[in-house]
Amino acid sequence: MKDIDTSELSWDEWDELHDPRPAENGFDKVVDEAISRRGFLGGVLAFGSGAAVMGTGTLLGTTSAEATTKSRFPFEALPIQTDATVHVPPGYKWSTLVRYGDPLFSDAPAFSQTETLPSSGADRVMGENTDGMELFEIDGKEVIAVNSEYVNTKINLVSTGGEVTSAEEVNVLQKLQGVNVFEVTRTDSGWGVVVDSPFNRRVTHQTEIEITGPAAGHDLLKTDADPTGTTVLGSMNNCGAGKTPWGTYLTCEENFNGYFGSTDESFERPADFKRYGINLEGRYAYEKYDARYDISKNPNEPYRHGYITEIDPADPTSTPKKRTALGRFKHENAACVIAPSGHLVVYMGDDERGEYMYKYVSDNTYAPGGDTDDLMENGTLYTAKFNWDGTGEWVELSEDATGMTKAEICVLTREAALRVGATTMDRPEWVAVNPVAAEGYCALTNNSRRQVVQDDGSLRTNAAGQEMTTNAPNPRAENRYGQIVRWYPSNDDHAASTFRWDLYCMVGNPTVHSDAYAGSPNMNEGNLFNSPDGMMFDSAGILWIQTDGNDDNEGDFEGNGNNQMLAGDPVTGEIRRFLTGPNGSEVTGVTWSADKKTMFVGIQHPASPFPDGDGTLARSSIVAVWREDGAPIG
Ligand code: FEO
Ligand code: CA
Ligand code: CA
Ligand code: CA
Repeated sequence: MKDIDTSELSWDEWDELHDPRPAENGFDKVVDEAISRRGFLGGVLAFGSGAAVMGTGTLLGTTSAEATTKSRFPFEALPIQTDATVHVPPGYKWSTLVRYGDPLFSDAPAFSQTETLPSSGADRVMGENTDGMELFEIDGKEVIAVNSEYVNTKINLVSTGGEVTSAEEVNVLQKLQGVNVFEVTRTDSGWGVVVDSPFNRRVTHQTEIEITGPAAGHDLLKTDADPTGTTVLGSMNNCGAGKTPWGTYLTCEENFNGYFGSTDESFERPADFKRYGINLEGRYAYEKYDARYDISKNPNEPYRHGYITEIDPADPTSTPKKRTALGRFKHENAACVIAPSGHLVVYMGDDERGEYMYKYVSDNTYAPGGDTDDLMENGTLYTAKFNWDGTGEWVELSEDATGMTKAEICVLTREAALRVGATTMDRPEWVAVNPVAAEGYCALTNNSRRQVVQDDGSLRTNAAGQEMTTNAPNPRAENRYGQIVRWYPSNDDHAASTFRWDLYCMVGNPTVHSDAYAGSPNMNEGNLFNSPDGMMFDSAGILWIQTDGNDDNEGDFEGNGNNQMLAGDPVTGEIRRFLTGPNGSEVTGVTWSADKKTMFVGIQHPASPFPDGDGTLARSSIVAVWREDGAPIG
């Protein structure tokens, strides 16, 4: 491990490196034909009602015929790109809205290409690694809330070449992550941040946050610094996001495990630490300089993270709230919808290989303008169970079924879901709910370990030790492309406990493969991509798909180019490339201006000097995209 530059690993790769489970000595022994490729096709045929080939099987949501229906997209498909900048189709323009390190307040330190920001000002600038975002209209102003998921130490600690050598550097890193809230406006020179707007705010790893819901005050959440278990510092690894119907921002704590470590190498981790990937070595050496992250000194601190935190963007003095009722896992994002009965439904994914999908349904109902504080306090968690026959069930994480208390279900949610038979998924990333049809979508980004046989003949497992056998919505072994699963709740009611499902897209590469890895018929030479991740519907019901995949443009990924954003038509199945990011970057996070004429898109961890060109640091940025003719784009 000493020879690896860990600063450039994805979180998935970081977990892989620290995985305490069996080594990858069986990695090359992928399942043989009988189980895998042709076997997969057979599996579809086995239940399909007369369907002859993949693509007309009922598990695949689109057919070749549908995919040739007249396009609803008003733009030309963008070819792949491999360079260091952003591209959009003819008739569209883009400009940079904000970069990592840009000031949110006029007292912010000036950005330097060669010196690390001082910790005193690191929370007065736009944080690093933009991710989930939402735009709010507040008193006629436009306010963006956007996550700063993690850090790129070589960029953020430029003075030390990325090394964490002191408490000062930990302090800088803690302040560069979390959430940014800022007002934006369009002037003659384009979109920009309103520096010093009264709405501007940073929420960091040091911000005081109230713990609410069933787990608040539970013994597991009590620490010496907070003996009541009700107040925590920081929201961490803020990945995707969500917006409540009442206009608050939901920030989702994903790879929180990576911040914890132990200065005592003999510290015995409880089983649930292993399940959540909490290890003896933290990714940024926090544990060496801030005892709160040292599990040998503060073993309960990790139980206080891994939740969804609600922030009111209209009130920068408000205390954010960790909503433990929504469970504790590696939260990707949160898609809120109000059921016909008025109940709040929140769909969520747990992004790790072989983890599960979840749904929360409130006890009380939503009334516009009414009191909403209880809606994410009292409710029920469910986990998804998919069947081969195209049906599925949201299984309640009840005290009876799990043998756990309500508080335990909210803290050790993975264990609760395991006990009720949740379906292991290929890394659930964003969930999106169609605003014009009763259906939900989840991007299952990839799972290199699905159906991989080890030397002893057993299959690779998830963190709970469950073998990751191929299953209905995750039907391919060693899944390197990903898929997008779609479900239709019974009676068009998102609160219903049953659904039917199909695959909106099985991502693949038909120019390289002719088997299941070619993908579903709505994949073609003109729209190749891999590893769907960010997903958001626009108001017209178009699904915007963002990727966080392999951009080598070689082998399995030939013809994919850089990571990108595509538009997907839920009705015809058509998918068309709209935007490409600079090489090395992930495209993640999308929201719209109030008039829908501008789309804001996040560019995370570019590898090359973006957006300012040669000789400058690569800075994660949000770009504004608009049509030259001024028409809405979403
Ligand atoms: Fe932060 Fe699962 O992406
Ligand atoms: Ca993501
Ligand atoms: Ca990802
Ligand atoms: Ca990422």
